[in-house]
Amino acid sequence: MVKVVAGNWKMHHGPLQTAGFFDRFRPEVEEGSVRIAFFPPDVSLRSSRTCARVQADFGVQNIHWERAGAFTGEISAEMAKEAGASLVLVGHSERRHVFGETDVDVGCKVRAAARAGLVPVVCVGELLEERKAGKLDAVLRRQVAAFAGSLADCRDYMVAYEPVWAIGTGETATPEDASAAHAIVRSALGALGRCPVLYGGSVNPANARALMSAPDVDGVLVGGASLDPEVFARIVEAGGALAGAV
Ligand code: 13P
Repeated sequence: MVKVVAGNWKMHHGPLQTAGFFDRFRPEVEEGSVRIAFFPPDVSLRSSRTCARVQADFGVQNIHWERAGAFTGEISAEMAKEAGASLVLVGHSERRHVFGETDVDVGCKVRAAARAGLVPVVCVGELLEERKAGKLDAVLRRQVAAFAGSLADCRDYMVAYEPVWAIGTGETATPEDASAAHAIVRSALGALGRCPVLYGGSVNPANARALMSAPDVDGVLVGGASLDPEVFARIVEAGGALAGAV
């Protein structure tokens, strides 16, 4: 299966920096053997789409579940779609833990993505305390149960396992840890589990290949290492090297 390599830029790269990113990324990357995706800030979506000139999908990092209304600072799935997004991150750990997004919110947002025809990339992952307390399985199953019903209405979707303790910390799950968690996610999804499951959390060019080679790991969702075009291109290359590998 072709690997997915996605960059979540979080609150980095405005429209001008975005143009500069792609000027440097384009010559570094060999297209075709990897499914590349970018999640720029909303204000850089247009710049990303026009400046990229590489084969890639573009998405937003968050949506509201309503179509429109008095929700200052929010955008709807329909608006994201109209602006050219085909993907949306839902339930990212920073949305859950910094902005207080709940499992119920995540379910509503997946339903909104389905309604608008966006492909949700739904993020799950446990806190370090939860892992240490042996609650990995229970946490992932609870998170998945909150949105699985809404996934059934999506034409296409992905799930990203991002252990909270590995995000932005330089601490990475081992390929074995990632595989084990992905197997739980797939089992919790049941019949809906035939989708790409990505790993995220301190992915870099040195660990990307081993992570993507692990059973059940269909790609990576990269934060910090997606901000530098040369570094991100090395991760894309690692995914490409696995294309066609059994
Ligand atoms: P880092 O790669 O910076 O750890 O971030 C991971 C992440 O949150 C991607 O969505």
